[in-house]
Amino acid sequence: MPKISIDAIILENKPLGSDIYQLSVACPEIASCAQPGMFVQLQINREMLLLRRPLSIADLDAAAGTVTFIYRRIGKGTAAMTSLQPQEKINCLGPLGHGFAMTAKNPLLIGGGLGIAPLLFVAHRLAGQADILMGGRCRQEMFWPELFQPYARKIFITTDDGSLGTKGFTIDLLPMLLQQEKYDQIIVCGPEIMMRGVAKIAAAASIPCQVSLEKRMACGLGACLSCSCDTNDGRRVKVCKDGPVFWAQEVL
Ligand SMILES: Cc1cc2nc3c(=O)[nH]c(=O)nc-3n(C[C@H](O)[C@H](O)[C@H](O)COP(=O)(O)OP(=O)(O)OC[C@H]3O[C@@H](n4cnc5c(N)ncnc54)[C@H](O)[C@@H]3O)c2cc1C
Ligand code: FES
Repeated sequence: MPKISIDAIILENKPLGSDIYQLSVACPEIASCAQPGMFVQLQINREMLLLRRPLSIADLDAAAGTVTFIYRRIGKGTAAMTSLQPQEKINCLGPLGHGFAMTAKNPLLIGGGLGIAPLLFVAHRLAGQADILMGGRCRQEMFWPELFQPYARKIFITTDDGSLGTKGFTIDLLPMLLQQEKYDQIIVCGPEIMMRGVAKIAAAASIPCQVSLEKRMACGLGACLSCSCDTNDGRRVKVCKDGPVFWAQEVL
């Protein structure tokens, strides 16, 4: 797939929750070819930031030519991103990486924190075919169900403090869900500790599991090696180019 470096026009950059923002851009070139699980390297023309920042594609509308990202303000780059205004230009390099294999008939999507963002695009593509199990710290961070409502079949929620859904973590609820429904695949994105826990439960239940890894990135194109990662069979892969999506048994 061609990697395009192109100026996109910002349409909207609005807060969704505390320190979490939704950025929508007009970028027909990327909207026409990106697949769920791929990401874009955004060049933020603020604060003399040299390196681009990687964000997953949270959704797109190919017909309208728009791409949406959902990001958390973490450091200098994402803080600068919050000040971007409609009609400004932002250079996008993408779509990058390999997306999810969209082969499942009855998948369970599992997301934690901002790892829920790329699953929105997966759920959209699967159009009511997937259930989603999502976890967050508290009710204030769980604006996600509304976004998933049009796309997901069933939505299961956990929060660390029990203020919404089941109290606890996604992996606490997962065994019960696997008893209730015969999922043919699990697709997971979130903190590594959560993905490891999910992968272990999936392996014990003989359910294929795809994970989306996150590493610090510079080029995003497979050239600088800053995102290298060892596989279980002794290969060294680049998360930006060979991933970010892998089968769990390859990398966890
Ligand atoms: C493939 C991929 C997809 C991602 N998708 C999303 C998303 O959809 N929503 C979201 O909120 N965040 C996402 N992230 C994480 C996001 O890229 C970082 O939070 C962001 O780069 C932090 O930049 P900063 O300048 O605010 O933070 P700083 O800590 O100031 O960043 C310093 C440097 O480290 C890099 N860096 C810092 N944290 C990360 C990180 N976790 N991953 C990669 N590089 C990092 C930055 O790019 C920058 O070069 C994704 C990361 C990857 C690798
Ligand atoms: S970020 Fe440069 S090789 Fe992956």
